[in-house]
Amino acid sequence: MPPDDVELRRVFGHFATGVAVVTAQSGEGRAGVTVNSFSSLSLKPPLVLFSLTRSLRSLPVFLEAGRIGINILAAGQRDISHRFATMGADKWADTPLSVGPHGAILIDDALAHLECERHEAVDGGDHVILICRVLDVRANPGDPLMFYRGGYLPESGGRGGSTLGRSADRVTRARS
Ligand SMILES: Cc1cc2nc3c(=O)[nH]c(=O)nc-3n(C[C@H](O)[C@H](O)[C@H](O)COP(=O)(O)O)c2cc1C
Repeated sequence: MPPDDVELRRVFGHFATGVAVVTAQSGEGRAGVTVNSFSSLSLKPPLVLFSLTRSLRSLPVFLEAGRIGINILAAGQRDISHRFATMGADKWADTPLSVGPHGAILIDDALAHLECERHEAVDGGDHVILICRVLDVRANPGDPLMFYRGGYLPESGGRGGSTLGRSADRVTRARS
């Protein structure tokens, strides 16, 4: 029998990732979503990917946008990750932003910024895989925010990695 959704999610969560907020703007408005499905894909051409659940309210914006911003979050940006993962929240209030040279929406103080254009949208089961061509990149000094087994690292209070997986700050995932 195939594993059920709860078990799949639990086991998938053992793969530690960074956290990014992807942004887009189209005629339908502005969208920003926390993702941990971001991955580099190709150097020539320069491609990256992330996947968005089909139930995401802002999916149409990403499918139409001319420019997509990828903001790789720094360790101190847990609040921004939480804000952009909360359905129905005013994700943009109090979020310090700028527009990059290629027109993508960028979040201040991120660990790295990528400005992209959509390359291809590919079927990924209950998700859509967005493959994007990278137009410009910038990295800043600092440490990454990470996600592991349903919680953020580093933990609040800055304790070390010896408790990984047992006491990482838990979050309730808004993903379907
Ligand atoms: C750490 C973390 C990683 C997430 N990664 C993804 C992801 O890769 N793809 C996705 O569709 N949703 C992901 N989510 C959930 C979305 O952020 C959330 O459903 C979304 O912001 C809701 O947006 P909406 O208001 O446009 O529907 C993640 C949430 C968290 C906390």
